Amino acid sequence: MAIRKVARMGHPVLRQVAKQLTPEQIRSPEIKQLIHDMVETMEEYGGIGLAAPQVHESLQLAIIGFDNEPLEVYINPKITVLDSKEQGFWEGCLSIPELRGLVYRPKKIQVDYLDIQGKPKQIIAEDFLATVFQHELDHLAGVLFVDRIRNEPGKTPLAFTQEYAKYLVPKPEDGVGELAD
Ligand code: NI
Repeated sequence: MAIRKVARMGHPVLRQVAKQLTPEQIRSPEIKQLIHDMVETMEEYGGIGLAAPQVHESLQLAIIGFDNEPLEVYINPKITVLDSKEQGFWEGCLSIPELRGLVYRPKKIQVDYLDIQGKPKQIIAEDFLATVFQHELDHLAGVLFVDRIRNEPGKTPLAFTQEYAKYLVPKPEDGVGELAD
């Protein structure tokens, strides 16, 4: 096991479309090692999800786990939007340290993926979890949360974590949520 270095915004690996894994790759010791390292890296940095490109591996693989959401490995995942009604969350990202941005995404999705054994699985996610999935799986397409912020002169909702905590933490009536990285 090893903690891997996290790629930061500006590194080209974060902008590549990640490659699908073959059944042989999924069974390989290298991928098992990568998954172990990603778990350790995510725990070290206190993330709730981590995508392989964030540790410089351009592969369709991500892990997600927090609180009541058991840690799971998502291989070659595909998202289908089930409810396109949007919800807003202030997002952070281990690859974009010290920043928070308000992003609107569909509130209910379905994810079809392969598990660590290469078995096809499906999960339906809504609310907070739906945003977590969309954020993580965006990484596999070379997309970062800053790409999804709606720019508006004088109002672009992007802030440093310190200023966010001081001025911008949403109140219940704002109808948006908080998402730590
Ligand atoms: Ni991220």
